[in-house]
Amino acid sequence: MNPPVTMRQIAERAEVSIGTVSHVINDTAKVREKLRQRVLDAIRSLGYQPSQLARGLRRNQTNIVVMIIPDITNPFFPAVVRGVEDVAYKHSFRLVLCNTDNDAHKESFYLNEMRSYRPAGWLVIPATDSQMATQLKPSAVSGAPVVCIDRQPPGWKGDVVLVANEAGAHSAAQHLLRMGHRQLAVITGPLHLTNAVERLKGFKRALAEAKVPIEPEYIQEARFNRQSGYQAATRLLRMLPRPTAIFACNDLMAMGVLLAAREMGLHCPEELSIVGFDDLDFAEFTAPALTSVHQPGYQLGATAARLLLERMNSGRQSPKKIVLPSELKIRHSVASLSPAHSPSRPKQHEEAVEIR
Ligand code: RIB
Repeated sequence: MNPPVTMRQIAERAEVSIGTVSHVINDTAKVREKLRQRVLDAIRSLGYQPSQLARGLRRNQTNIVVMIIPDITNPFFPAVVRGVEDVAYKHSFRLVLCNTDNDAHKESFYLNEMRSYRPAGWLVIPATDSQMATQLKPSAVSGAPVVCIDRQPPGWKGDVVLVANEAGAHSAAQHLLRMGHRQLAVITGPLHLTNAVERLKGFKRALAEAKVPIEPEYIQEARFNRQSGYQAATRLLRMLPRPTAIFACNDLMAMGVLLAAREMGLHCPEELSIVGFDDLDFAEFTAPALTSVHQPGYQLGATAARLLLERMNSGRQSPKKIVLPSELKIRHSVASLSPAHSPSRPKQHEEAVEIR
């Protein structure tokens, strides 16, 4: 492997000073166009590759953005990551992705370990029981700004971008009520997470408004994955009276419900109606196609990345909270129990709002 091309070699080839080469490479001063082109021609012909490591050491900051998420194999997160990466790429930042498995200890490890890479910024989907508010100040210890996505960890006072969880869950419950269901059940995500709490709140608000009671045992806490959704559904479907409808607070758990119903010989939607949350790509292709609350995953990531860049460039100190709309996508997994039902179209929730 050839030794790396040096700035001295470029200067000699372009017949300029090393200082001029440095100004062109680091864009640290205006250089006459004629000289600039000679330097760029020399860079191309010599195959020079600037050392990001050296640049990072000089500036005590790299062009790295660290993104910490629970689990890239959960089909909700790839769209969020892609939204971030498209914005980062356009602004010459490079993404480093870390999976926490919703484990606060692993998250804490990454928050410490990745600081040594001097990132330009952080984007974090906090783990369950996240302690990040104590580890990363909104402008972070290293001066790099931080934006939370999808969940607001305890004590976090910085930038955050969320989806209208409460309103989305409220519309899911209203749809089941409009379709005549009165014996409802809900499977929540981990209730340490703000989005799980908000979805349960929205569901319960709709039932309270309709004066439909729900016994505590028909509220099952799970872990936003298919297995825990399956286990919770198995418990619910053995209860008497058996629920006629289950709202699963994410689509992976809704898949678990579908599996449990099938194993118990229950047909969806005739004998059990199911509503999910996320509206993942596969929701249209399950049998029956899943009614689910749509979360704009890509937009969630892209909005968070733009907020991070705005914070980097503006030096803003006051926190921003952006809430993106959710929307119920009605498909075929909910049956009507009353002939008089009128499944009017659900309203679009809450245009994106910025709460200062
Ligand atoms: O499916 C994963 C869940 O965790 C999604 O509902 C998303 O909101 C994330 O928080």
